[in-house]
Amino acid sequence: MTTTTGITGVAGAIGSVRTRVEGRDKVTGAARYSGEVPFAELAHGWLVLSTVARGRIRSVQDGPVLAMPGVLTVLHHGNAPRVDIDYVGMLGRPNPIVGIFQHDRVPFAGWPVALVVAETSEQAREAAEALVVEYDVEPHDVAFRAGRPDAYTPQSTPMVQPETEKGDVEAQLDASAVVVDAEYTTPEEHHNPMEPHAATARWDGGRLDVVDSNQGSSWVANELAQLFSLDPASVRVRSEHVGGAFGSKGLSPHQVAAVMATTVLQRPVRVVLTRRQMFSLIGYRSPTAQRIRLGADADGRLRALDHQAQSLTSTVYEFIESSAVLGRVLYDADAHHTLHRLVRLDVPTPTWMRAPGEAPGSFALESALDELAEKCGVDPIALRVRNEPETGPVSGLPFSSRNVLACFEEGARRFGWADRDPRPGLRREGRWLIGTGTAAATYPSGVGPSTAAVTAEPDGTFTVRINAADVGTGARTAMLLVAADTLGVDPDSVRVRIADSDIGPAMIAGGSMGTRSWAWAVTIAANELRELLALGGGIPPEGITARSDTAEAIGALSQKERHSFGAQFAEVAVDVDTGEVRVRRLLGIYAAGTIVNPLTARSQFIGGMTWGLSMALHEEAVRDQVSGGHVGPDLAGYHFAAHADVPLIEADWVDDPVPGDPVAIKGIGEIGIVGVAAAIANAVWHATGVRHRELPIRPDRVL
Ligand code: MOS
Repeated sequence: MTTTTGITGVAGAIGSVRTRVEGRDKVTGAARYSGEVPFAELAHGWLVLSTVARGRIRSVQDGPVLAMPGVLTVLHHGNAPRVDIDYVGMLGRPNPIVGIFQHDRVPFAGWPVALVVAETSEQAREAAEALVVEYDVEPHDVAFRAGRPDAYTPQSTPMVQPETEKGDVEAQLDASAVVVDAEYTTPEEHHNPMEPHAATARWDGGRLDVVDSNQGSSWVANELAQLFSLDPASVRVRSEHVGGAFGSKGLSPHQVAAVMATTVLQRPVRVVLTRRQMFSLIGYRSPTAQRIRLGADADGRLRALDHQAQSLTSTVYEFIESSAVLGRVLYDADAHHTLHRLVRLDVPTPTWMRAPGEAPGSFALESALDELAEKCGVDPIALRVRNEPETGPVSGLPFSSRNVLACFEEGARRFGWADRDPRPGLRREGRWLIGTGTAAATYPSGVGPSTAAVTAEPDGTFTVRINAADVGTGARTAMLLVAADTLGVDPDSVRVRIADSDIGPAMIAGGSMGTRSWAWAVTIAANELRELLALGGGIPPEGITARSDTAEAIGALSQKERHSFGAQFAEVAVDVDTGEVRVRRLLGIYAAGTIVNPLTARSQFIGGMTWGLSMALHEEAVRDQVSGGHVGPDLAGYHFAAHADVPLIEADWVDDPVPGDPVAIKGIGEIGIVGVAAAIANAVWHATGVRHRELPIRPDRVL
């Protein structure tokens, strides 16, 4: 039997407000997260982490623990399955951070030294806490500070070019009428997604099946296949619902431990991380020490921009927090220099955390711009207008679109910037000093190869298959709108299947590249399906499917500077008695290409801005120099913004057409946080007359 197509000519789904497809399941508890999916014969693994920051494991005394109730096995470096720790994953080089239980070396406090597996989670935990591990301890060094003599310039990676130079910065600084030379620091910060990392692994008919919480199931499946030397086709990873990720949910030790344990025990094994374990196992944002030198003419036109950023990495893997990259995009200057330096310490490896690079980098650069505006006596927005580039300031490439000044214009209008008296320390309401500040935001609009399939079903509905990850952003819903728009059908007739590596390879939900990457693949497949359906005829029982792969099209993209932009505005009140800073208002206006779903997009922006507020005033992971571990690594000790800290936050966007772009969608995941800490710090200066170059702006630093 065949039926005719459901094409009705409805268009305009992109840009329409739509609640999350899975929203009802989430709020009613029907949605299951990776730590909740039931399996028969499920065993539970509990990781045991090193209590020393550097040394060797002398012994793992598993004997007594194996006799404890319910304990099934204890895996450690002496007995765990061997894996290929030299595998080359997505990053193009080996990632030994997941090579757990392969050697006796302890590279940092909180490194996995054993996995205790038991019948219940409680039994595993009790046994894990009872397990005695002896160490030969070596002296460790976890002291991050500016200007360490052992700092070095890393090699370029596929993600980061550590140094760029244009013109003669020193000569231009010498010729400048006004110079800002300041150092800024940001602390170690942690992602803390609401849903802890969790994975369940099992062997199912010769295939490895992993139920996970991640930002890309193809990614995790591929890495596991390489690590365990398996045929990629024999590994399946699913990640149906994800309660936040922010850069922290790739491959971490817990999935590896779960796969090892299920291989040994031949029954499903689940490993869930505790909040405290997350502080050493899933990555974090490196602390930064940044020096900025700006040289300008008296009217604020930049002659020189020099941004040098130092961050840390571990002894096992090199990660660069790319804080200095913004200046390469934001401001014209006769001479540019940007440089990243690293120090290797006995600490866990940092990783991407929302707006990696741009978040701490924008605190430094956008604070320095405000200091320059003050010194030149130029309005901060006028200063940015004066230094607006025609083309990429360092690359010379054209921008795909650049509407940052439109963001400032609209933001200034809505925020009431025109009435602002630029002088600091003048506005007082009782014991509160009031100030306002602004900052620019930018984040790259990247794209990665993806495959998609769109099927016209015999019942007149449509099925989209794209291995996207919905990390809480509404990715499913966005793909539904993209497909419905392209097909010209009612969104209610479209269902979207995501988060399963068996669907086929697709870009991760990372680097603000997910929606752009997946939408491109879905658009191509949906267009092709539309053409197939236009040929007429019926739909067979198995449906009609069109497939796409964007690898070639991405390869053919023209060389351009592709970025999202934005303008952040903040109003603060500073308590002159306690030093408390209250943010009263935040406004973010963005130029981020086509906005697919205004409802979820606004939530993304507001979420990022809230995090920027949190970064400005609260967040700081404190490392204990003696133990090498954290002080208070949990949600009691790691302070971040609660509801009472969050004021009126508004986010909106300006038109940002991207001429010639195949999808015209940019990323919005990261940009919300960029510049917010600087806007708040600049507002605190405006309120008090005191510059804060060290985050967070704690009361003791304000007084
Ligand atoms: Mo984003 S920090 O690449 O998840």
